[in-house]
This record gives sequence, C-alpha cells and structure tokens, in this order.
Amino acid sequence: MNLRMVISKMGPIRAIVPVLVVIGIIIIAISYHSPSFSDSRSSVVTSTSAASNSANLLSATHQEALAKHAYNASLGFGEIVYISMPERTDRQDAMNLLGSAFGLKLKLIPGVRGSEIPPKAIPDGAPSDMRESVLGCWRAHANAWRYLLESEMDTLLIFEDDLDWNPNVKKTLETLSLQMQNSKIRLTEPSNYERERAPYGLDWDVLYVGTWRHGGNPELKEFVQIWDDPDVPEKEELVKSTKLLDALYDFGLTDDEIGKKRVLAPAYLTMSTTAYAITRKGAQRLLYTLSYVGLRGDVDQEIMRLFKEGQLRGYTLSPPAFSQFKVGGSKDSDNEERGKTLDGHGNVNGHNINIKGSAREWMVNSLKMDNWADYRQLSKGTINDRDEAMS
Ligand SMILES: *[C@@H]1O[C@H](CO)[C@@H](O)[C@H](O)[C@H]1NC(C)=O
Repeated sequence: MNLRMVISKMGPIRAIVPVLVVIGIIIIAISYHSPSFSDSRSSVVTSTSAASNSANLLSATHQEALAKHAYNASLGFGEIVYISMPERTDRQDAMNLLGSAFGLKLKLIPGVRGSEIPPKAIPDGAPSDMRESVLGCWRAHANAWRYLLESEMDTLLIFEDDLDWNPNVKKTLETLSLQMQNSKIRLTEPSNYERERAPYGLDWDVLYVGTWRHGGNPELKEFVQIWDDPDVPEKEELVKSTKLLDALYDFGLTDDEIGKKRVLAPAYLTMSTTAYAITRKGAQRLLYTLSYVGLRGDVDQEIMRLFKEGQLRGYTLSPPAFSQFKVGGSKDSDNEERGKTLDGHGNVNGHNINIKGSAREWMVNSLKMDNWADYRQLSKGTINDRDEAMS
C-alpha cells in the first residue's frame, strides 16, 4: 500500500497530511542539528529572533566557521605578542622568520632588566634575594597582561622568544577550538557572546598551550576532555624528564591512545611561560595576584601556585602545541647567569620538547634551495625538448 492510497483512505483530512509531513521533517532537521543542551537555554531566550539566532550559534556550520579563525594571523586569539630582551636580536630575527613562514603577526613586547625596577615598584613580599632576572621576567609578563587590558581585545596569546611548534599547529588549534566550543569540562554554559565570537570560549583566565610540566588535580580526575589528534608525538618521543607520559596515563589514556590523542584538563601542574593565552579576566587576576597582592618567586611557579590554590582558572593542553627550542649553551637562557659558554649546537641543530615535527625545521626546509641545480634542470629540459622536436 503506498502513501497516496493511505492518504486517500483518510478522507477529508488528506489535504493537511502533506503539510504535517513537511512540518515534521523541518522539526526533525532542526533538532538533529542542535546539540542536546539547547533545552536549558530556552528559559533565557525570549524573542523569536533571539531564538533563531542562538540556534544558528549552535549549528555545526557556525562552530566550524568560528574554529577556522585558528588559521588567521593571530591563531584565533586577539593578537600574539612575544617577549624578548631588546638585545636578543638573534632571537627576534628567528621569531620574525618563523612568523613570516607561518603567516603570523607577532608583536614584540620588550623584556625588562630587573636592575631597572626600583625597590618601590617591586611587589610586596618579594624575597630580598630575588634574582634580578626573575624580577625582569615577571615585569615583562605583567606588561603583556596590561597590554591586553589596555586594548579592546578578548584574548591575547603570549609567547617567549625561544619558541617552536608543530608545523600543523593551525589544524591543532582548529580542533582545540571545536573541542572547547563543545566542552564537557566547563563550569557554565557558554554565553551567546562566546558562541558568536570566541573560538576558544572565554571561561578561563589562562590557557596553557605550551607548558613543560603536565598533570591535573588528583582529586578531580574526571574533568578531562580527550580527542583524536594526528599531530601528537609518539610515546617514544616524549621527553622523560617532563613526566608528560605519567601525566597522560593519569589523565586516563591507554598505551594505545598515547601518540594519538590530546587532552584538555583544568590547569593544575604547569611550568614555563613559553606559550599561554589569557582572557581579560585572566589579565586582571594575574595583575591582581602577582602585582597588587605580591610576588614570591618565579612567575611560572607563581602561576602554578595560583592554579593549585584555586586562585586562577585555566586549562592545559597535553601534549602541548608549543615548546621551547633549545640550541644548547648560554644562548638558551636570559634568566640564568651560570657561566655557560656560548657554544651550543646552533639554530639549525636545535630541538624542541614533546612536539611532533618542528616549525623551525619546516621553515629551514622551505627556504633551502640550490639555484643552479634548478637552472640546470631547466636547461636539460630545454635541450631534451629541442632534441625531441628535431627528431
Ligand atoms: C583572528 O581571530 C580572532 C577571533 O575571532 C580575532 O579576535 C582576531 O582579530 C583575528 N585576527 C586577525 C589578524 O584577523
């Protein structure tokens, strides 16, 4: 029995049935496209136009378009700044090269000499033996936090000048954005503002995308988000001293999953200020806790203390997307004055930590050429063509 026969048997209501069928299909299509949490939002949404707007904000099309901002010149953040001591022009040259190779706009925030900070400007409680380099490092980061607050931006990505990343970092961050837009480890539902324009949400103070130490709060292990990512390093490539492998087991990954998956967890154990993003609220909290209130030690250890004490809210990406780039010798640090000699391995022989591939290596390869070999190739081609034409 076909549909037409069914309808004709139904008599007078048959004219309405196709209309009902169409309405039904539309309803099914709409509910199929909106994630299940749309219900809890309906109490907030009042007018019909707002309702259809927020339905758009929840659509896969919108989320994917927002995640594509990870491919822009600031990787989907408001801007990217990098901190570098004014005299380290070698590192600034490298950052410039890397930025141009990857289409990134990197703004220099000059590093600060600790000796230039007068005693009155040092935060309360700073130990009297605090090294000048530690003070200077703190000041440069505090200047970056201020830079965000003085701008109109929502977020700022802060780099140091000895950076490397995985060559597919934009894809990594696009995936991170999709994960964060559909986060299962948020404390609150995203606002319409976040859904509309924040690729990574705004429910955090600090987003650690380049930490050196990893590990979640041992009491709250269930708050992890795990996804497939082809751009994480193999298990064998993880650097032992960083304890990343232990952390990945702790986050619940199995041996088979390590080397295939990335984890996002509320930030707890972190180390190094190599690459992290902040929101406006984050910049405020950092300036408040680590300037207004006081400073006890190195800024990266202070940030970890704040995470552990619960005074700062953030997420950590493990394995990281960014890492320090080590060249060996005294060039690796502007913070220690430990009589190391200048001779390291050199830029082209440097290495990163817990990253798959290397942006620096990619950049080096993209600029390599043998000009005359190219000419010879062309000239051979021409000769062959001519020979063929003559025969
Ligand atoms: C990149 O995307 C972010 C998020 O939408 C935006 O705030 C930023 O202005 C964009 N950057 C550039 C250079 O267009």
